[in-house]
Amino acid sequence: MEKEKWWKKSVVYQIYPRSFCDSNGDGIGDINGIRSKLWYLGELGVDVLWLSPVYPSPNADNGYDISDYYGVSPEYGTMEDMEAFIHECKNRGIKIMMDLVVNHTSDEHPWFMEAKKSKDNPYRDYYIWRKGEAGSPPNQMESCFGGSAWEYSEETGEYYLHFYHKKQPDLNWENEAMRKEIWKMMNYWIGMGVGGFRMDVIDVIGKVPDQEIKENGPKLHEYLQEMNRETFGGKGLVTVGECWGADVEDGILYSAPERKELDMIFQFEQMQADQAPGKRKWDLKPLALKQLKQAFAKWQEALEGKGWNSLFWNSHDLPRIVSRWGNDKEYRVESAKMLATTLHGMKGTPYIYQGEEIGMTNYPFSGIGDFADIESVNMYHERKQMGCREEEIMESLCAKARDNARTPMQWDSSHAAGFTEGTPWYKVNPNFTEINAKKALEDKNSIFYYYKKLISLRKEEPVLAHGRFHLLCPEDERVFAYTREQDGRKWLVVCNFYREPAGFAYAAKGKVILSNYKQEPVMQMEGMELRPYEAMICEVIEAKEEQKP
Ligand code: GLC
Ligand code: CA
Repeated sequence: MEKEKWWKKSVVYQIYPRSFCDSNGDGIGDINGIRSKLWYLGELGVDVLWLSPVYPSPNADNGYDISDYYGVSPEYGTMEDMEAFIHECKNRGIKIMMDLVVNHTSDEHPWFMEAKKSKDNPYRDYYIWRKGEAGSPPNQMESCFGGSAWEYSEETGEYYLHFYHKKQPDLNWENEAMRKEIWKMMNYWIGMGVGGFRMDVIDVIGKVPDQEIKENGPKLHEYLQEMNRETFGGKGLVTVGECWGADVEDGILYSAPERKELDMIFQFEQMQADQAPGKRKWDLKPLALKQLKQAFAKWQEALEGKGWNSLFWNSHDLPRIVSRWGNDKEYRVESAKMLATTLHGMKGTPYIYQGEEIGMTNYPFSGIGDFADIESVNMYHERKQMGCREEEIMESLCAKARDNARTPMQWDSSHAAGFTEGTPWYKVNPNFTEINAKKALEDKNSIFYYYKKLISLRKEEPVLAHGRFHLLCPEDERVFAYTREQDGRKWLVVCNFYREPAGFAYAAKGKVILSNYKQEPVMQMEGMELRPYEAMICEVIEAKEEQKP
């Protein structure tokens, strides 16, 4: 058998540098802050760090608007700090996955500053320019952050395309010179010793604006193959593409090894199980567990033996999972562990977002003044203008705003949760005296140690990393259960998603490997009653005839 890729047993930890740890008291997290917490990440056992952008940026979108791909923002430190960070990670066997934001730059990037000057500027064609139609934008395409995707530029009287904020002009991937600049920049970071790339909204680089094609454009995969050839291919790095618009067929195109594109994709189908059909993320509906199970199972089955997926509940773009689909009150610990079990029991590479491992919750916002994210603020004004009720808008924001994930990491119960000695750039969740890393490390039953166990199981147990997935009881509205099977071994994962007890039956005995409740070492699984948010992973022993394969 071909040697399996190292990242199939890895767990990635995402750091949002602005909110992780501040080393110099200016209230903004920084690289030296991260360096001071490497022992903590080592204790958890993660082996890849996805670093959200630390490049110079005017911060219209918190660093996802880059003005210099080769530098480090002074807010976050110096290039020497970055080098020391890379070096220290290397010593600990931790790889750094850089955020690669190449669908767009900042409008303050020198390329754009040049491009906007005149129609014959050599950089003009690095971006996408069109004449308007009688004083209005070329077409109806919309920005993800609200309003038109076209912005009028005074200097030349043309519009430029921006799928995100108007300070994030889209790059023109048709332009070969521009692509070469990107390859050069990627090779620079590879030379610096980074271990991989997370590719921001990579599914839209093949856009064809005149046909209003955004995701999955005709040349998308051609570009990725070129990127692979010209930069990271064959160098043992790990690459993941963020793809909001991918279906399973696309997932295979991106991640099938023989196509030589990316190692895995980061797609969001499972995160839509509480979104009104055909609507935006702000249009809420209660979690539909059957839909959630279906989404996961579809990807698990479709990619089996063909491609590779990421497993995640959280990121800097998503609200806190324990508040979203768990119970952030009396069952916070149980439900956080249950959600971890569900996710880490599956096949793929799990991602943990900072604070998830201690069960951090959504923020108790009380009014629009509490929100900092451009997406939240724009949505508020847009919906106000549409005549939506204040309470309804606030309900959506509290549930889904990205700000929920961006409050400072809760380290201990001291000033500002130990995140900074100064004034934090953004609000600290007032529950930090109860929920913090120090407390979690002192309690051997904490969510932290549960994650640690899940991470080590993936490294030690081939059935967890490689076993084939099979969904059980797809029609059950309360229990998420499935098996993983490899080389004659079978693991069973059972999770009750609700606070009400739920029945579950499986005709076998199970040796308990991990659970969020105290269990007998071996249990009869024929007629179980699961307690609130109860979750377990069992090795199946003595399966009855009818369930033998
Ligand atoms: C990705 C990032 C998000 C950012 C957007 C534009 O979705 O994760 O934070 O706003 O791309 O770069
Ligand atoms: Ca700082």
